[in-house]
Amino acid sequence: MNRITATADGSNTLYNEKIGEHYHSKHGALQESKHVFINAGLKHAVALFPEQEINVLEVGFGTGLNFLMSAAYCKEENICLQYTGLEAFPLRSEELASTEYDKYVSNDIWSGLIDNYGKAMQQSACILPKQQLRIVHTYLSRFDTMDRFQLIYYDAFSVQHQPEMWTDEIIAHVCQFLQPGGIFVTYAITGNLKRALKSVGFTIEKLPGAAGKREMLRAIKQ
Ligand SMILES: C[S@@+](CC[C@H](N)C(=O)[O-])C[C@H]1O[C@@H](n2cnc3c(N)ncnc32)[C@H](O)[C@@H]1O
Repeated sequence: MNRITATADGSNTLYNEKIGEHYHSKHGALQESKHVFINAGLKHAVALFPEQEINVLEVGFGTGLNFLMSAAYCKEENICLQYTGLEAFPLRSEELASTEYDKYVSNDIWSGLIDNYGKAMQQSACILPKQQLRIVHTYLSRFDTMDRFQLIYYDAFSVQHQPEMWTDEIIAHVCQFLQPGGIFVTYAITGNLKRALKSVGFTIEKLPGAAGKREMLRAIKQ
C-alpha cells in the first residue's frame, strides 16, 4: 500500500508501507528530482552529448516525477528525449494522478504521461512529438536490451531498505547498458557504490547532495 504525503518543499511523495520508505526525499521530492537527476544528470549529459537527442534509462520509474522533469527540460531546450523506465511494481494511473505533479509541468506533458501510461507499459508511447516513453515492467536483474544509454538515473530505494539494489553485481549489470562516456547519477553515495563503479571502469564525482544529504554521486563510464 502507498500513502500520499507532503514533503518539505510542498511537493507530494508516496510512502511505501511494505518497504517502509518514501519514493522521494522527505526534504523535498521536487527539489531532489531537479537537483540530482536534472541539474547533475540531464544537463551534464546534454553538455557532453550535444546531438540534441538524449537516451535515458531510469531504474525505479515509480510516480514518473523524474520523467516529468526531464520532459519539461527537453521540451524547453528542444531536445529529443528517448526515456526508458524500469519498474518492478508499477503504480496504478490513479496513484500517479494523486501526486498532483501536474502543478509542475505543462498540460501536454502531464496528459501525455497520464493518458499514455498504459500504452507506455506495452510498447513505446509518444508523449510529445519529440519524446518517447517506454516503461518496462521488470526487476532490474532480469532486464536486458541491445540499447545503450547516455544517462542512467539510479533511483532505487535506499541500501538500508533494498540492499539487493546496491550490490556490486546489480551495479555492474545496469552499467553495461551505458555507452562509453555515459553518465550514472544517483542521490546516494557510499564506499561500496564507489568501489563497485570503479571496478567496472567509472570515474567518480562527489557532488553536493540534495537538501537533507551532504553528498551525491555522479560517475562517468570510461
Ligand atoms: C525510490 S522509488 C523511485 C521513485 C521514482 N523515480 C519517482 O520519481 O517516483 C524506487 C522505485 O524502484 C522500484 N523497484 C523496486 N525494486 C525494483 C527492482 N528490482 N527493479 C526495478 N524497480 C524496482 C520501486 O517499485 C519504486 O518505484
